[in-house]
Amino acid sequence: MSSLFTPLSIRGTEMRNRLWVSPMCQYSAVEGVPNDWHHVHLAQFAAGGAGLVIAEATAVSPEGRISPEDAGIWTDAQAEAWAPIVAAIRSRGAVAGVQLGHAGRKASTTSPLTGGRGTVAPAEGGWSTVAPSAVAYDAFAAPVALDAAGIEKIVTDFGDATRRAVRAGFQVVEVHAAHGYLLHQFLSPLANHRDDEYGGSFENRVRLLVRVTEAVREAAGDAVVFVRFSATDAADGGWDVADTVAASRLVADAGADLIDVSSGGLVPHQHIVPGPGYQVDYAETVRRETGLLVAAVGMIDDPTFGEQILADGRADAILSAREWLRDPHYALRAAAELGAESPAPAQYLRAY
Ligand SMILES: Cc1cc2nc3c(=O)[nH]c(=O)nc-3n(C[C@H](O)[C@H](O)[C@H](O)COP(=O)(O)O)c2cc1C
Repeated sequence: MSSLFTPLSIRGTEMRNRLWVSPMCQYSAVEGVPNDWHHVHLAQFAAGGAGLVIAEATAVSPEGRISPEDAGIWTDAQAEAWAPIVAAIRSRGAVAGVQLGHAGRKASTTSPLTGGRGTVAPAEGGWSTVAPSAVAYDAFAAPVALDAAGIEKIVTDFGDATRRAVRAGFQVVEVHAAHGYLLHQFLSPLANHRDDEYGGSFENRVRLLVRVTEAVREAAGDAVVFVRFSATDAADGGWDVADTVAASRLVADAGADLIDVSSGGLVPHQHIVPGPGYQVDYAETVRRETGLLVAAVGMIDDPTFGEQILADGRADAILSAREWLRDPHYALRAAAELGAESPAPAQYLRAY
């Protein structure tokens, strides 16, 4: 019996297996509206047997986009453009998820598809960025510190985006609190220098994420809510694994159903050495210390490796990103390798 191909049911939503597609920005939307590229890109993973396909970091407001080409869901028109993409994922047997994000001080940057790096100037389609504090990331433009009204708007935007996502048919909503983006910036003392109720102590730094999770939970109805953390900043004085464990408990109390455990992205001087399964220890720690459902991610490129992680009780599901780009039918290959029943569509069964 394969652990990877054992279904997982959360809040009544059943994922047919535990080999999932991690969110991947495509930098291919126009004014936040997803298109034909997103449709083919995401639906192919569902045809390829994924249990869950999570669409890229999707901005809850225009200023929350990482690049001007990011997808969004801050308008009804964007949600309507997502709906057929969601239907294409679901009709192929996968659960459809979306990651909701706000890039904070890492917004308004050049799309990597153009080979550039750094801030896009307002004259070239960029915008002025916001963050917990007016502290720049690397050589990016300095952000403006959010005031109280700006913080309220972040909470409202995540709630409204969730309502639109659910209306578009998404069954899982992931709150992006990782990789140095806005919510992570609030968590980490390296980016958050506030002296109000959103900065200083751990309780204050997690406050915005807890409020956002509550708003998302309320707007999500029966949909499943994930939170993605960077378990550590891997830098002196930064957010660490013990903080992640404590914050995981708080977001679970606020309504999160699963913790997705990544790392890094907050500061350029982080010390992270990527290698096979380099973040699994963090996932295992969160799972052991909290008893919550946990997904592991990060260079888990091999079905037998993923199988072992689950069989050893280190995580409840495996998220992969680049392996799906190398092989969009990754789960069909994995099932064949592990001798599990194939999730292949009927049209493809002659190949298995
Ligand atoms: C093209 C690309 C785009 C990505 N975009 C996102 C994103 O939108 N949100 C996110 O949380 N992580 C993003 N990531 C990180 C992946 O979700 C994943 O955590 C990381 O690639 C490690 O997994 P892997 O070794 O299986 O690729 C992206 C990765 C890639 C390769």
